[in-house]
Amino acid sequence: MDDADSCVFTFKGYNFLRSLIDVDHLENLDDFEIRDDDVFIATYPKSGTVWSRQIVCSIYFEDHRNKTPHQNILDRIPFLEYNIRKMDFSKRPSPRLFSTHLPYYLVPRGLQNKKAKIIYIYRNPKDVLVSFFHFSQFVAVLEDSESLERFMERFLDGKVVGSLWFDHVRGWYEHRHNFNILFMKYEDMKKDLRGSVLKICNFLEKKLSDEAVDAVVNMASFQNMKSDALANYIKVLKEEIGTRKDGHFLRKGTIGDWKNHLTVEQSEKFDKVFQKKMKNVSLKFIWDINEE
Ligand code: A3P
Repeated sequence: MDDADSCVFTFKGYNFLRSLIDVDHLENLDDFEIRDDDVFIATYPKSGTVWSRQIVCSIYFEDHRNKTPHQNILDRIPFLEYNIRKMDFSKRPSPRLFSTHLPYYLVPRGLQNKKAKIIYIYRNPKDVLVSFFHFSQFVAVLEDSESLERFMERFLDGKVVGSLWFDHVRGWYEHRHNFNILFMKYEDMKKDLRGSVLKICNFLEKKLSDEAVDAVVNMASFQNMKSDALANYIKVLKEEIGTRKDGHFLRKGTIGDWKNHLTVEQSEKFDKVFQKKMKNVSLKFIWDINEE
């Protein structure tokens, strides 16, 4: 069943953003030809997608990390499933960089058991929830929930773009052996950005000088990204997606903001669902800025 008034378009059991989809493109994704040196950044929405794109773009492109005039990130790291710029992906030079919110079972078949690299960024889901709630109020093409309570219901039912957070993270993690994949925590990136950049460089087999690593770290800091018009995503949001009010894409960029928003009751309800859905998943989560 498809509700044409909804901002969500469900295809093969996953909720896409209706305003950006092209069904023919989605139909063909399974057969999309993968190259061994392709790199994918995979995330559930609001988990650090734009941040990790900035890091990967700065690792690959010297002009990007040195802030000399450069191409827009969307042109360098397009979304796989939302081909916003209508590119012919098959004609792009190697190494091709992509970003995706797809669940593990919808990515091109050729990614399984292949050399192409996937960086999967995950974030504690209470902060994802709060970030998503604010984003939904900000961006015109998403359904604006009148309250966090109502948004939490939809989030826990998987009735949002990106479907159920638990399925996304669990699915990718449980199928990790089929892919060449690095799991990174948003919170680890926050606590040790340089260490995280080095880990990503290592996975990507990119050897950068200390100065170049410093430049990547500087480009990826919250303060720099928020004030850099090419990094803060506001232009893309305003021009290509549409906003309903003034605001910032880089809102707080912290760990544990959920404590400022969820009531004790809401938090306990969330914990119960988390414990049930993430049973036997050995991934570690960080819920508090002071947590080790
Ligand atoms: P908040 O809304 O909690 O601030 P995505 O890109 O997947 O949509 O994720 C958006 C979230 O990542 C936002 O979280 C945003 O502020 C945060 N973010 C983006 N760049 C960041 C950075 N350099 N450091 C920390 N958080 C960042």
